[in-house]
Amino acid sequence: MSAEDTAERSLAHWSEAGRAEMEAFYALATEDYRQLAAAADWPRLLADHAHDGWSLLDVACGSGKFPTALRRHTDLSVVPDVAYDLLDPSDFSVAEAKAALGPPFVARNELVTTLQDLPAEYVGYDVVWATHALYALPPADLDAAAERFVAALAPGGLGLVAQAAAGSHYLAFYDAFRAGIHDATPYTTAEQVRDALGRAGADVRDQRITYTTSTSDRGVAEGFLQRCAFDDTVSLEEMEAAPVLGDYLASCRDTSGSYTFSHEAALLWL
Ligand SMILES: C[S@@+](CC[C@H](N)C(=O)[O-])C[C@H]1O[C@@H](n2cnc3c(N)ncnc32)[C@H](O)[C@@H]1O
Repeated sequence: MSAEDTAERSLAHWSEAGRAEMEAFYALATEDYRQLAAAADWPRLLADHAHDGWSLLDVACGSGKFPTALRRHTDLSVVPDVAYDLLDPSDFSVAEAKAALGPPFVARNELVTTLQDLPAEYVGYDVVWATHALYALPPADLDAAAERFVAALAPGGLGLVAQAAAGSHYLAFYDAFRAGIHDATPYTTAEQVRDALGRAGADVRDQRITYTTSTSDRGVAEGFLQRCAFDDTVSLEEMEAAPVLGDYLASCRDTSGSYTFSHEAALLWL
């Protein structure tokens, strides 16, 4: 694995040292989670899977933006408390997500591991979700990770992977960044995750949502894009001047210099 490898850089940046960069990213990326909260009838879906002693596994919990969006944008008062297990290879992420939880999500196990290395005894969850979570998962580990995801879910449970599609901003940007700035392992796409879940035996329904995020503030655009690449050493000016990446960024910019990023997220329901 080279020092430039995507999974290594992801882990290094999901840390206290990466906090400012993470906060800059969420100036725009909080919208990803608002969109997911609006894409389904979450109170009904969760209430339908609830029973005494029910449990939920949040795969790649990050800083807990998805449960936060559900609590902010939906009415979860009909959902009974659920034991909420936090999985992430970054102990920083697990601590951040735990601090963000509130009713009905009650923190239980802290699983500091990658999905592909989740021990086999973690099964029987009524809900398993991974939201904008698996981009840095190495393609070579995808089948093992998908098998663990499917195995963790109880029969009849609710599974969701939300991930950007191949043509969407996060993937298109990182491909252009790799071509124009420095090469690294590509991000994993929704289509790759969907196919791996199918190979792991899951029956997957692929729902798509499209939306844009915009800013006229170059500082916001720079912080967002640096986090998209886990690289805060390259300025916006350098990105705009780079081969391939410069062309991609020009396609996102209007005549006033404002940026609009186009997103297509797949909600892969199990
Ligand atoms: C963008 S965050 C996910 C956001 C989160 N779902 C939320 O609601 O805020 C991506 C997370 O994936 C984690 N991650 C990276 N590789 C992983 C892997 N192989 N298995 C599980 N988590 C991984 C990172 O450490 C990071 O915390």
